[in-house]
Amino acid sequence: MSVSAELARPLVDRYGRVHRDLRISLTDKCNLRCTYCMPAEGVPWLSKDNILTTDELERVAQIAAALGIVEVRLTGGEPLLRRDAVDVVRRMARIVAGDGPLEVSMTTNGLRLPALAEELVAAGLTRVNVSLDTLRPDRFLALTRRNRLDDVLDGIRAALAAGLAPVKLNAVAMRDVNDDELVDLLRFAQDHGCEMRFIEQMPLDAGHVWSRVKMVRGEEILDRLGEVFTLTEISGRGAAPAETFLVDGGPTTVGVIRSVSLPFCGACDRVRLTADGQLRNCLFAREESDLLAVLRGGGSDDDVARLLHTCIAGKLPGHGINDPGFLQPDRPMSAIGG
Ligand code: 5AD
Ligand code: SF4
Repeated sequence: MSVSAELARPLVDRYGRVHRDLRISLTDKCNLRCTYCMPAEGVPWLSKDNILTTDELERVAQIAAALGIVEVRLTGGEPLLRRDAVDVVRRMARIVAGDGPLEVSMTTNGLRLPALAEELVAAGLTRVNVSLDTLRPDRFLALTRRNRLDDVLDGIRAALAAGLAPVKLNAVAMRDVNDDELVDLLRFAQDHGCEMRFIEQMPLDAGHVWSRVKMVRGEEILDRLGEVFTLTEISGRGAAPAETFLVDGGPTTVGVIRSVSLPFCGACDRVRLTADGQLRNCLFAREESDLLAVLRGGGSDDDVARLLHTCIAGKLPGHGINDPGFLQPDRPMSAIGG
């Protein structure tokens, strides 16, 4: 890897935001069909020929590390459906970034963690977020269209047993779907030594049924939890999207991610790479930078670095969900990566 000195500088945008976190979608495929993400029949899958190879992923991560990226988060679709996911982790984790190794984390639905958690840790995975929207099997089936709650719960246990603590559990709060389970979910996290994080639903669903009016707002989430638990805010959020709170004096913590009602775009340090090699400077970006073309067209490491800088230079100040002219991104979440 050789990036010239002139390009090996931090990824700073026009608003002074320094980008340190690269999110890479390993595949757009998924073994669940969460109603807020995909229709039952799935979405038109990306062409296999366009999925970045592991060599390409490693190369991009090395170049990104030279530009100040210190963390890579692997997402999907479901990242563990990629056949060589463990190898991807291993190759990412040995990249040097700043003062130490590139930190490699993952957001997963958990289904394959019973089989893979130990290998992933051995390969260098440091942290994992598991999606858990409900603890009730009938609801899980209705929400994900698959009867696999027990496998997710096994996956969470496997992650803990493999030493990935604290495991973060993500729940998208949804009206009339799981808004009566917020307390139960936090108790579950408390009992298992996990950190619960509640996320406001964003307009990213393939079915375009998101509704601002129905959305369960962070404030409501905190009110409901506050009726049962004593929450003490922990300051120092930094670039992290979650506001975190100590639960009943700790050690359990809970996070609330108010992506819509209290956007954290001003502190955003993330850039995304889709499984088919498109760089996105925001989940809600309307444009992508075609890294696949650079990689497959014989581009040099400097060409890759230049495209990363160009992508970041075009980043808008915020996602604009609350603006009248807001348009949902063309791609569903499963194709962008969480
Ligand atoms: N709004 C908020 N979070 C979402 N996720 C998927 N779709 C949405 C949405 N519309 C979450 C998943 C998972 C992570 C990848 O993103 O629940 O935790
Ligand atoms: Fe799969 Fe995640 Fe989409 Fe659910 S939200 S269908 S687990 S990619």
